[in-house]
Amino acid sequence: MTVSSSHKDTVLITGASAGIGAVYAERFAKRGHNLVLVARDFQRLEALAARLWDAYEVNVAIEAADLTNRSELERIEALIASDPHIGVLVNNAGMAVSKPIIGSTPDDFQKLVDLNVTATTRLAIAAATAFSKRGGGAIINLSSVLGVAHEIGGGVYGGSKAFVLNLSRALAQEGAAHNVHVQAVLPGATRTEIWDRSGRGIETLDPNILMGVHDMVDAALAGFDAGETVTIPSLPELADWQAFEAARQKLLPNLSRNTPAARYRVKLAEQAA
Ligand SMILES: NC(=O)c1ccc[n+]([C@@H]2O[C@H](COP(=O)([O-])OP(=O)(O)OC[C@H]3O[C@@H](n4cnc5c(N)ncnc54)[C@H](OP(=O)(O)O)[C@@H]3O)[C@@H](O)[C@H]2O)c1
Repeated sequence: MTVSSSHKDTVLITGASAGIGAVYAERFAKRGHNLVLVARDFQRLEALAARLWDAYEVNVAIEAADLTNRSELERIEALIASDPHIGVLVNNAGMAVSKPIIGSTPDDFQKLVDLNVTATTRLAIAAATAFSKRGGGAIINLSSVLGVAHEIGGGVYGGSKAFVLNLSRALAQEGAAHNVHVQAVLPGATRTEIWDRSGRGIETLDPNILMGVHDMVDAALAGFDAGETVTIPSLPELADWQAFEAARQKLLPNLSRNTPAARYRVKLAEQAA
């Protein structure tokens, strides 16, 4: 399905004050969309809104909200549900914590789970339901290549992004019948503030694996325009993803059966004896 942004829905972008979200804001403004920008830092949002109004004469509303705070999150959910002009959600706000799991405390990752999993899920549900009632819409969820590559250093962050990928694919399947298009974007390392915020300085990364944020978002939007459900901006060969997907699909007929696989039945028989 090709998703045209020629119908000028308002685009609500979370995490719009910096990095990937700020570039999505600029690109959708350039396409003529009005915007709702969400993040915690009101002053940064205000400065971006003024710049976008000057450059593109689009209306930009600002919603300062901490999406790890339940009442502030619910305010954004309610806005999506009640504003009939909002037809695109860029579910982008996210954070990383550069820590191994072992040796950490559960609380070290609580905000990450609240933001990357809980807020992303609740906003996706609110948007999918609202958009289907309005006849359609689009949701762009920011996952990560770590969602399919824990070896690169996923930890809890990678787990949260695997969740976002799976959620997106399930919602894309459901949404197809309601004209709700869902795209999961899987960036590799991208030059933004997330690295310093996570506790890992960006200078520790090999520049050969680090993409500029404008290139990343433009590639992701090309995938969006092409109607892709999964977009990996840095992957040179689409055939490699298709082979990965074909291998996964080969598992499907055998993932749920009424008997254990033969290699486990032997062990079960021994236990029973
Ligand atoms: N950069 C990468 O290498 C990379 C790679 C793969 C995936 N991603 C994903 O891409 C998305 C955007 O990341 P980025 O690199 O652009 O990060 P970033 O530069 O750190 O920006 C994060 C944005 O999220 C907002 N945010 C953070 N905590 C928030 C909270 N509690 N409530 C509301 N907003 C909050 C921040 O604004 P305030 O501080 O003003 O709230 C900021 O606007 C994330 O989901 C990230 O996981 C990034």
